[in-house]
Amino acid sequence: MSQFAGKTAIISGGAEGIGFSIAQAVGKRGMNVVLGDIDAAQLQQAEDKLTAQGVAVHTVQMDVSKQEQWQEIATQAQARFGNIHMLVNNAGVSGTPGDVEHTDASDWQWVLGVNLMGVVYGTAAIAPLLKAHGEGGWLINVASMAGMMGVPYGGSYTATKVAVVGMSECWHAELAPHNIQVSVLCPAFVKTRINLAHRNRQAEYTDDRVSGGAASEQLSALAEHMQSVVDAGLDPEVVGERVVEAITAGELYIFTHPNYRSAVQARSRAIDEAFERAAASPLLQHVLHEKIASFS
Ligand SMILES: NC(=O)c1ccc[n+]([C@@H]2O[C@H](COP(=O)([O-])OP(=O)(O)OC[C@H]3O[C@@H](n4cnc5c(N)ncnc54)[C@H](O)[C@@H]3O)[C@@H](O)[C@H]2O)c1
Repeated sequence: MSQFAGKTAIISGGAEGIGFSIAQAVGKRGMNVVLGDIDAAQLQQAEDKLTAQGVAVHTVQMDVSKQEQWQEIATQAQARFGNIHMLVNNAGVSGTPGDVEHTDASDWQWVLGVNLMGVVYGTAAIAPLLKAHGEGGWLINVASMAGMMGVPYGGSYTATKVAVVGMSECWHAELAPHNIQVSVLCPAFVKTRINLAHRNRQAEYTDDRVSGGAASEQLSALAEHMQSVVDAGLDPEVVGERVVEAITAGELYIFTHPNYRSAVQARSRAIDEAFERAAASPLLQHVLHEKIASFS
């Protein structure tokens, strides 16, 4: 019997795209699936498709950036299926590509609210439930290749994805004693509706971006380019299967695009070379052989 069978997963942003593909992949292996998403119509479609595939599914319309709504999905998930074994923090939005002076505060708040605080609130609400039964489980955070390297004109998105990678590393150490395996998924481009994320932008994040001038032409060319690379991206169904493959192997970092390896290596090399220069600085010789702090 699969190690997933009869267990229960909560998946945020699971109504479509990558979240839905993970729901299908774990559902196929016998997990009960609870989908939380802001989009009620898509949720209904997702529920119908999973039910037709024989998956036990429960859906909750919610906004991940509202802390109290996590209590509601936790209560409903437990009432329907009992113990919770997996949380997938997947809901995310692209923000509006732009240079820093053309990204308004409301855009930052939207992206930080969903991509960062959504993950914080979700983990804070559900991690205690993963620990409570002592059977162990999984916490899977969906970051991005943008969590591994800065993406020009994507400052707010990059900030949240780097944070999700960092938090996953923290939680990996914190939750290991509870037999909860933490993984962080870092895909490059996947063929979803991520670039149409404004369709679900909450009303409180009014878009008062100043537009016009050369910058805006450049930015619409950039938006078109982003759309073309997403359109040419990986089939989301492959991503769901890849997640199952990687968590079965106990991987912390989950990659779906091995072709990006050299770009991440170049970043690691640049960081290593910066350490070399610090090590050679006469100012820092007294620090060079000091014991480093350990927190675990
Ligand atoms: N598609 C890509 O190329 C790509 C690459 C790297 C990382 N990602 C990440 O994958 C995750 C899933 O994105 P996707 O590509 O499947 O996009 P998508 O737009 O197809 O799916 C995102 C889902 O999140 C939901 N959502 C949006 N705001 C929400 C909110 N406030 N509360 C609850 N649900 C909300 C949407 O309704 C949708 O169902 C995101 O975190 C995204 O950043 C995507």
